[in-house]
Amino acid sequence: MNQNWGIGRDGGLLVHIPGDMRFFREKTKGSVVVMGRRTLESFPGGRPLKDRVNVVLTKDPSVLRPEVREAVTAVSGTEELFRALSDYPGREVFVIGGAAVYKELLPYCDECLVTVNDCPREADTFFPDLDKDPSWELSDQSEEHTEDGVRYRFRTYVRKAGGALPPEENGDYLVRATAADGSIRAFAATTRNTVETARQKHNTSPVVTAALGRLLTAGLIMGCDMKGENDVLTLKIDCQGPVKGLTVTADSRGHVKGYANVPDVMLPPNQFGKLDVGGALDLGVLSVIKDVGLKEPYVGQTILVSGEIAEDLTYYFATSEQTPSSVALGVLMNRDNTVRQAGGFLIQLLPGAGEDVISALEKKISGIRSMTAMLDDGMTPEDVLREVLSGFKPVFLGRQELSFRCDCSKARVRKALYSIGAKDLNEMIGEGQPAELVCHFCNTKYRFSIEELKEIAEQQKNGKEKSL
Ligand SMILES: NC(=O)c1ccc[n+]([C@@H]2O[C@H](COP(=O)([O-])OP(=O)(O)OC[C@H]3O[C@@H](n4cnc5c(N)ncnc54)[C@H](OP(=O)(O)O)[C@@H]3O)[C@@H](O)[C@H]2O)c1
Ligand SMILES: [Zn+2]
Repeated sequence: MNQNWGIGRDGGLLVHIPGDMRFFREKTKGSVVVMGRRTLESFPGGRPLKDRVNVVLTKDPSVLRPEVREAVTAVSGTEELFRALSDYPGREVFVIGGAAVYKELLPYCDECLVTVNDCPREADTFFPDLDKDPSWELSDQSEEHTEDGVRYRFRTYVRKAGGALPPEENGDYLVRATAADGSIRAFAATTRNTVETARQKHNTSPVVTAALGRLLTAGLIMGCDMKGENDVLTLKIDCQGPVKGLTVTADSRGHVKGYANVPDVMLPPNQFGKLDVGGALDLGVLSVIKDVGLKEPYVGQTILVSGEIAEDLTYYFATSEQTPSSVALGVLMNRDNTVRQAGGFLIQLLPGAGEDVISALEKKISGIRSMTAMLDDGMTPEDVLREVLSGFKPVFLGRQELSFRCDCSKARVRKALYSIGAKDLNEMIGEGQPAELVCHFCNTKYRFSIEELKEIAEQQKNGKEKSL
């Protein structure tokens, strides 16, 4: 870049410096490079870079030439980008421009390698000015080099200590607390954005938004209660009601994904004028599956007592985990059927709890307003626990950001395709149409061209998976 952080002009670079190109090639060789569609087009022949995994941001991958599309991983936004990157654990990732992509991804980077030259050409594309950004500092600078009359230096900027990555700005989080000298444990969560994300992804009807939202919230709370970083919790409901079933999977780091078998169930309100979640589920079974890295996951099952989910979980905790619990889960809708509030709490009594604590807490909880009414009054999860546990001296233990996140990616779906039988795969190829596979959990569609399907079939035949 030039002295003014200018990085390009008319779709190309300002100046070609062989020493800088060499540095770039050596640095990024073997790693993952992330770029915008226009930067890809600025490469010789519009072709991806050799010896690197090329990830390209574009809203419309069909604008890429077929042979280019085959050779790169095209992603349509940051969410899909991060999913794609999770397929290359341990690999270094370089964001290589241009301006649009630099600006968008800078908050996720912790180091910037900058080559500054004294080329006098005016730029029309710029990198954010790191000298003016309080989150960044210059940590290293090479001596000056000169090539073809252009002078340049290599600089390294690093994110300042404390200049933390931006919090996930969706506002959903959970707090945990203990009370009554450790004989009560408690969680409260606000999950509006998570539930609204699920609603949008699955285009759920109001009653299904409520059912799925309650189960997602329960999954987040129970997921955050697991010990191991890689533990996974699944809540699965199989039922006779028109929604047929719901599945939610959460990790212990505040991520959840989930879906309803039938997303567009419409039902009249129940006798209280509320969304009839119990009617949508009707009779059924709730399974709680905890995968904590042992050979077999733990599976607990109970029947649905009301289909309203919170009561069903209360019953599950009492019968399967022998832990007296109070569960509240709620989803409140706007008039346009978007999610206005969502959240829940879980209060559990530990074996040491005395009779006086138990009866006082029961009384307290029976008089409490609904979770969504409290949230809609502007109360935070902390406020909710302070209210529910007033008189029991709550002590807050921590806070966890929450979000809807699915870990699917084209590479994973490809692996799934690879493992289906040769017969099925050949049938798909025989149909002569590209195959479209959909992730149940997040409704993302993955397209595989005939060529890609043939390639997978070929590898299957040779018994070796493509090394990524
Ligand atoms: N000196 C350097 O270090 C350097 C490095 C790279 C590039 N450059 C220069 O920078 C210029 C190109 O930069 P630019 O800002 O014009 O383009 P760019 O960032 O390379 O590409 C922009 C395109 O990327 C896609 N994109 C970006 N963010 C996206 C998102 N969140 N979701 C989906 N797609 C997304 C869009 O493609 P669609 O329109 O297809 O949707 C968008 O039009 C050129 O002059 C190039 O030479 C300089
Ligand atoms: Zn998915």
